[in-house]
Amino acid sequence: MRAAVCREYGAPEVVRVEEVPAPLCGPGQVRVRVHAASVNYPDVLLVANEYQVKVPTPFVPGSEYAGVVAEVGEGVGGWSPGDQVSGIGMTDAFAEEVVVSAASLTRIPDGVDARAAAAFGVAHRTSYHVLRSVAAIQPGEELIVLGAGGGVGLAAVQIGVVLGATVTAIASSREKLDAAAASGATRLVNHRDGDLRAALRDALPEGADVVVDPVGGDLAEPALRALHYGGRFVTVGFAAGIPRIPLNLVLLKGVHILGFQFIQFATHHPDELARNEDELLARFAAGEVTPHVGATFALDDAAAALRFVADGRAIGKVVLDMAPASS
Ligand SMILES: NC(=O)c1ccc[n+]([C@@H]2O[C@H](COP(=O)([O-])OP(=O)(O)OC[C@H]3O[C@@H](n4cnc5c(N)ncnc54)[C@H](OP(=O)(O)O)[C@@H]3O)[C@@H](O)[C@H]2O)c1
Repeated sequence: MRAAVCREYGAPEVVRVEEVPAPLCGPGQVRVRVHAASVNYPDVLLVANEYQVKVPTPFVPGSEYAGVVAEVGEGVGGWSPGDQVSGIGMTDAFAEEVVVSAASLTRIPDGVDARAAAAFGVAHRTSYHVLRSVAAIQPGEELIVLGAGGGVGLAAVQIGVVLGATVTAIASSREKLDAAAASGATRLVNHRDGDLRAALRDALPEGADVVVDPVGGDLAEPALRALHYGGRFVTVGFAAGIPRIPLNLVLLKGVHILGFQFIQFATHHPDELARNEDELLARFAAGEVTPHVGATFALDDAAAALRFVADGRAIGKVVLDMAPASS
């Protein structure tokens, strides 16, 4: 089978598509013919060996995929060849086939195509857990979303609106802000237009209730300053670097700084995770939330897709489309 392989750490361009042996399907496992895989920022970091988890080379990057069950291993119940499934893991998805544990698969709701299913797993789940559990957003609250044109950010805009918040979207381009507006954001701020702190003071004179921050860098502090007394700031990622926040700000504003990390959340809050996943899947199946796929690449162009994400150009999700022409 063909797969995008990272043989040495580095920039996205180290990833090359090669012919590799298809993985064997063992007991308790399922072979999935991948029809779409989506690119996440952590894939870029894993290839660069800059992620908090290290994966030894060579490896096939790609953490979320959707496709069709091709083979079920011994002892597997509940799945049959032809079932439409999606899944998330750490690596292996940028390939024509993956072999995964049967328990890790999710059934794709009827009427949802593989690209949307592949684009839904990481960003929407992250934003749902962040807003529903960590920020515990309430209807009528004011929500600021940084990186609002990116994968996690655009999902947070959409989910914030669905959960009843009024959303202020912050991003670096007109195109990204247009996508945020199409997902329901009502206030749009381009942080490249000038002083973000002043822009947020004008937009939200009473202050915001919640900030969701998948960006960090120089944007985190002005966003935190835009909270009213007692507001909640959820740190999700550091696409622009890890910020340092002066603690006197936290003291003076009485704000709560909260963190979300998927594996920690799953480990420490399994019941909440299961409840949220059920709720989110039902909203996905009902069409209330759906990923915005801003760019699609072929498997052969996996390195270009990683580069697109690394450069912060993604609007919503970036997908590798591997579906046969007829599907
Ligand atoms: N905590 C968790 O469990 C979890 C789960 C998923 C993702 N994450 C993290 O969340 C962050 C965002 O992920 P994502 O999938 O939303 O990424 P994305 O689609 O690439 O969006 C990231 C946004 O960050 C901004 N940005 C600033 N500097 C950037 C740079 N040098 N390169 C790329 N983007 C830059 C861009 O917004 P502007 O328009 O403002 O420039 C971009 O839209 C990543 O750090 C990722 O590792 C964490």
